[in-house]
Amino acid sequence: MSNKFNDLYKKSIENPEIFWQEASKDIFWFKEPTKILNKSNAPFYKWFEDGVTNTCYNALDIHIEQGNGERTALIYDSPITGNKSKFTYKELKLKVSRFAGALENQGVKKGDRVIIYMPMIPEAVIAMLACARIGAIHSVVFGGFASNELASRIDDSKAKVLITASCGFEPGRTVEYKPLVDEAVKQATHKIDKMILFQRPSHEVKLNAPKEVSWDEVVADAKEIDCVEMNSNDFAYILYTSGTTGTPKGIVRDVGGHIVALKWTMKNIYNINEGDIWWSASDIGWIVGHSYIVYAPLFKGCTTVLFEGKPVGTPDAGAFWKIISDYKVKSLFTAPTAFRAIKKEDPEGKFFSKYDLSKFESLFLAGERADPDTIKWAENLLKVPVIDHWWQTETSWAISSNCTGIEMMKTKYGSACKAVPGYDVKIIKSDKTIAKPNEMGDIVVKLPLPPGTFPTLWNADERYKENYMSNYEGYYQTYDAGHIDEDGYIWIMSRTDDIINVAGHRLSTGAIEEVLSEHQSVAECAVLGIADKLKGQLPIGLIVLKAGVEKDNETISKECIQMVRNKIGPVAAFKIAIVIKRLPKTRSGKILRGTIRKIADNVEYKMPPTIDDPLILDEIKEDLIKNNILKSV
Ligand code: COA
Ligand code: AMP
Repeated sequence: MSNKFNDLYKKSIENPEIFWQEASKDIFWFKEPTKILNKSNAPFYKWFEDGVTNTCYNALDIHIEQGNGERTALIYDSPITGNKSKFTYKELKLKVSRFAGALENQGVKKGDRVIIYMPMIPEAVIAMLACARIGAIHSVVFGGFASNELASRIDDSKAKVLITASCGFEPGRTVEYKPLVDEAVKQATHKIDKMILFQRPSHEVKLNAPKEVSWDEVVADAKEIDCVEMNSNDFAYILYTSGTTGTPKGIVRDVGGHIVALKWTMKNIYNINEGDIWWSASDIGWIVGHSYIVYAPLFKGCTTVLFEGKPVGTPDAGAFWKIISDYKVKSLFTAPTAFRAIKKEDPEGKFFSKYDLSKFESLFLAGERADPDTIKWAENLLKVPVIDHWWQTETSWAISSNCTGIEMMKTKYGSACKAVPGYDVKIIKSDKTIAKPNEMGDIVVKLPLPPGTFPTLWNADERYKENYMSNYEGYYQTYDAGHIDEDGYIWIMSRTDDIINVAGHRLSTGAIEEVLSEHQSVAECAVLGIADKLKGQLPIGLIVLKAGVEKDNETISKECIQMVRNKIGPVAAFKIAIVIKRLPKTRSGKILRGTIRKIADNVEYKMPPTIDDPLILDEIKEDLIKNNILKSV
């Protein structure tokens, strides 16, 4: 048997500096790094400290220089609007360098922050790359977030400019961005200098000059700009993600390590080569979109597909097969929920049989646990390997995966395969000792983390240290729990904090609780994620009212649901809020969320010995049955 994977993995763990120095030779540097890893200020590690490069140069210019300017860089396909377009590397570079010039004309300089709140259109990708070209730090905010979330990101990043579009399209609904942005700008304490808005055809909105300007207007008189030189440890972007409270965490990415690691992953994890056609069906507002719609495929010189649509309903459950067939996609990366949605609508795969998928080689799933049923269903239908791999916004690339470009490993259904080179993954038990094979515990990664992961949090070094690096000295705490089996396969079982995963979207139940607590009739509440066949998990809210509230329960539930939609956004998918008499707690007053979740999921639970009143659990059960969450058994 070949030891290719094991040998490479061992090298990456035993000699990370040599391993990553070799990988760094594959990217373009204005000045090659001589210092590979600075460990002097742990846990703040610095990769490629004295290297000088540029993200946009590695995504675009380099391919033109190497004679591949006519290769298609980006394919845009929007079944929602019926629009399609293609851009070669040369065409994309022209658009990006002109928009970079436009940003400079609007006063954006290296190190300034730029918020991008846009739908899945080419201009969103152009805006990201233009920021990278001039060294501005972009912060993309997912379109499904509400004004409140956008405002908190404007304030935390102190953005100079905000780039948006007149609207987005969701099935059956137009998302009007301008009123959402106006409200966010009003709410934010920090004031942006400029709003640049892309007017979508046949959906123009009124702008208030001089602060609000249209994309076309700023581009009209802009000159093309060259890439600026960036130090390897300068920041490329901030991506906010759910923390354990309502205050999102600004995950930052540095320039050099990001390019090296992401380019390395395309061949080694995904078996993707220059010129291959690659599709990541996610959204640029999420980490999967950052890394695998935009950056990694362009660093590698591939063709990347930007899809403005859904797996079902745009127009049908054949949408994915159509894209794969029309563009001869080699590999697709998406969240399991997308396949569950297709399976639910077309269990027999009738749509599938209409398309030619002869060029399709593999399917990668991540973002949430991939249930074995869905993997097997996809394997049977597609007749290609279906690979579950595990990663986080914090890391920007997979921590564990079947590294198909190094050596194909066997699938164990329910496991996200083995640690990827660069990640020394361990399980730590509650007594803080390292677990033996198959023993459950917290999943941690030995420091230093490999390049491309987060060197800190935006303006929050202490929070970075405190939150991720202090519970287990010398390790990064992933906040996932699970075990590693005797063959080194990693099994991700649950989160250890209050994060839930709804249709591959990461949400904080704490943040939803904060919103519910603001309702004037709510005395206390608990939000938990219950199992859902389609979305993996769904948030439900249990609400206890203040004494003397006269409003009826139904009205209060509706108001609570609307508040979450207004304050967090439709992405929270918060549609169930139940008024109950009291919440089960420990004698010390801690809400027993885990026990309630088990009751709601109809799985066995032990009566917590510290519960203050066991009868409350029966009451909760009745309430869940009454509200059709739990079937009467
Ligand atoms: N802008 C505005 N609103 C958005 C949005 C966006 N970019 N994306 C989603 N929303 C809205 C949806 O319209 C929906 O609103 P509604 O309550 O009015 O119906 C709500 O947010 C919840 O969206 P979603 O969780 O996506 O559910 P859905 O029912 O619309 O679709 C799936 C379910 C499975 C089809 C969908 O989640 C999907 O395609 N997932 C693919 C995987 C993925 O992209 N994962 C991301 C990380 S890899
Ligand atoms: P995000 O930061 O949004 O990418 O979410 C990261 C979290 O999603 C992880 O910490 C896991 O809890 C979960 N996750 C991602 N991929 C997987 C996977 N393959 N299996 C199980 N959970 C996953």
